Amino acid sequence: MTAESSSTGKNARLSIASKTSEMPVRSGTLGPDVVDIGRLYRDTGCFTYDPGFTSTANCSSKITYIDGDNGILLHRGYPIDQLAEQSNFLEVCYLLLNGELPNKSQFKEFDAAITRHTMVHEQMTRFYTGFRRDAHPMAVVCGVIGAMSAFYHDSTDINDPEQRRIAANRMIAKMPTIAAMAYKYSVGQPFIYPRNDLDYAANFLQMCFAVPCEPYVVNPVIARALDKIFILHADHEQNASTSTVRLAGSSGANPFACIAAGVACLWGPAHGGANEAALNMLQEIGTVDRIPEYIKMAKDKNSGFRLMGFGHRVYKNYDPRAKVMQKTCHEVLDSLGIRDEPLLKVAMELERIALQDDYFVEKKLYPNIDFYSGITLRAMGFPVQLFTVLFAIARTVGWIAQWREMIEDPEQRIGRPRQLYIGAPQRDFIPMGSRS
Ligand code: CMC
Repeated sequence: MTAESSSTGKNARLSIASKTSEMPVRSGTLGPDVVDIGRLYRDTGCFTYDPGFTSTANCSSKITYIDGDNGILLHRGYPIDQLAEQSNFLEVCYLLLNGELPNKSQFKEFDAAITRHTMVHEQMTRFYTGFRRDAHPMAVVCGVIGAMSAFYHDSTDINDPEQRRIAANRMIAKMPTIAAMAYKYSVGQPFIYPRNDLDYAANFLQMCFAVPCEPYVVNPVIARALDKIFILHADHEQNASTSTVRLAGSSGANPFACIAAGVACLWGPAHGGANEAALNMLQEIGTVDRIPEYIKMAKDKNSGFRLMGFGHRVYKNYDPRAKVMQKTCHEVLDSLGIRDEPLLKVAMELERIALQDDYFVEKKLYPNIDFYSGITLRAMGFPVQLFTVLFAIARTVGWIAQWREMIEDPEQRIGRPRQLYIGAPQRDFIPMGSRS
């Protein structure tokens, strides 16, 4: 048992035929208790079966807590709406990595450490020319991050806490540069170097949208909104990409390889790819009068269509990030003077209709963070293909914080799930000439 979890004094008992396993029930600080099934196989010869991990806690963690029924998300105990409104992305990074909010000098030191590592090894720029210009930027970012382990050898020893710290800072610092370079390459413009006089979000905006032939002035409202969007995406407990990072890291793989695995997982439309899919869906719907047709399709299992940006494995209530995102969306559109954005109208009406529809009400399907993020990012000038990359920039801190926590966890072992085998039983090989 870890020092952070406590015994409830209760045991769960599972009897299978004549064999019985007594399994301790453990409590965390918040949330459901867990039944520690570690002895089950030894005691009974049975595995548990839980595809999709709907009832399985894979680790203990102090970083993020989600209460899906009540729509609560806490980072190190702090509610996401308070962090989004009152903090900034780098401060949230510090909090996720270190467990506490920084004081002034701690923040200054951390800010400088990240800001001074924003450039990438110049030779890495050559990788980009090996990709097709029409490649999806997630494919490019995944490849370039994987390649970081070939450049930063002094931060790949996972057993050295100082190297782990440097790897974390490097990932957070360089991710926006790598992402912006993927964008610039796709549009055939020269790479723009980072500017260390700008804050994290403002620097990313200039690396994406500045060109060498004219000055670029960062719009502070857009920079603040982007910073907020980064905060909203910074971590989300044991989601698919974070679990991927932990599983990859459990074998002792270096942090850059693990984050590349996380990026690959994030790309899927059921996960981070949903922001791109949600905007494409809103564009396809196009006008409010077509909404009923799409609602009908979403309810029809045979259509293969889902309302993108709706539903969540954990939230059975309004995603607290979506609330902040919706507000940010309005702020961005207002500041850019965009009135009557047709997609916003479609989104708001779609949300209104879905929230009153029995199908969505019964299944507790609410808008998630991706529902409004696409409209916001598009208004900021980002192309749709870059949306999931922006998610990856923000989630990098969550991945690396969870990876570090795992490496430092005395309970950590290589992740090795078992299976229910349903293939052919043992049989003898038949030489080709004797096969019918
Ligand atoms: N539209 C229509 N029906 C839905 C939707 C949806 N968006 N989401 C779930 N359902 C139905 C689903 O058909 C199922 O019905 P039934 O019980 O009759 O079979 C029921 O609701 C439960 O769905 P599930 O697929 O078993 O739930 P899950 O927890 O495995 O999946 C999800 C969660 C997020 C993958 C799913 O809700 C979904 O595909 N949503 C759309 C994609 C999306 O917006 N993803 C972003 C998630 S938030 C960002 C992130 O953290 O990555």
